[in-house]
Amino acid sequence: MDLFEAIQKRRSIRRYKETPVPETVIERALEMAVLAPNSSNTQTWDFYWVRTPEKKAALVKACFSQSAARTAAELVVVVASPTQWRRSQPYLIDWVRSVRAPKSVILYYEKLIPAMYRWGFLNCIGYTKWIGLTVAGLFRPVPRGPNTRRDIQEVSIKSAALAAENFVLAITAQGYATCMMEGFDEWRVKRILGLSRTDRVVMVIAVGEEAERGTWGPQYRIPIEKVVHRV
Ligand SMILES: Cc1cc2nc3c(=O)[nH]c(=O)nc-3n(C[C@H](O)[C@H](O)[C@H](O)COP(=O)(O)O)c2cc1C
Repeated sequence: MDLFEAIQKRRSIRRYKETPVPETVIERALEMAVLAPNSSNTQTWDFYWVRTPEKKAALVKACFSQSAARTAAELVVVVASPTQWRRSQPYLIDWVRSVRAPKSVILYYEKLIPAMYRWGFLNCIGYTKWIGLTVAGLFRPVPRGPNTRRDIQEVSIKSAALAAENFVLAITAQGYATCMMEGFDEWRVKRILGLSRTDRVVMVIAVGEEAERGTWGPQYRIPIEKVVHRV
């Protein structure tokens, strides 16, 4: 299946057969997920493949027992982890040094990333950056952020959402179905997975083999000219 076919074939499937999904299908899709483009290659994401029956039952409940979650063979939670640039930083520094990247790139990972991704207690660093950049921005184009905790969470969420899309397309290409879900109680999902206060649950993804009446009907989009603007 080529990429165009996978994109066209992917649908949000809300009912699955009881047949299991081979582990390798999920593993391959996770390998594709982490190849998604992401902000500064900081890879501030985590993927929780929920396998234990107790955790899975709790997760289904936290997803309001919606049918996609209830009938899924597998559930994978995509998490944006805004503080995990710290986990990536030593790897990235080793990597840019090993490929003999320009000094500016090495400095970027050593100095600029920590400056960009810190928000400080009660956002004090974030608001200081915001004031400085807003003043500088009166005179020239400047990067307006990320500054505060919310901005940095947003950056991580964008990257994690791209990884989620890679994941579902890779599942589709292997002949299985998915449903991305944001219909969940985030506080409860975070408790089930033992996540930190600053983490954000981006998507719970159901995976399985499509059952009869897995969708509400054919795929529908509003006319493309309503959303594409040639400017
Ligand atoms: C961010 C996001 C959250 C979603 N949340 C849910 C959800 O909680 N439950 C559900 O059944 N579908 C959910 N969906 C699926 C959408 O309803 C679906 O993508 C949309 O109706 C278009 O249908 P299609 O995916 O079959 O093209 C979600 C999709 C996205 C991207």
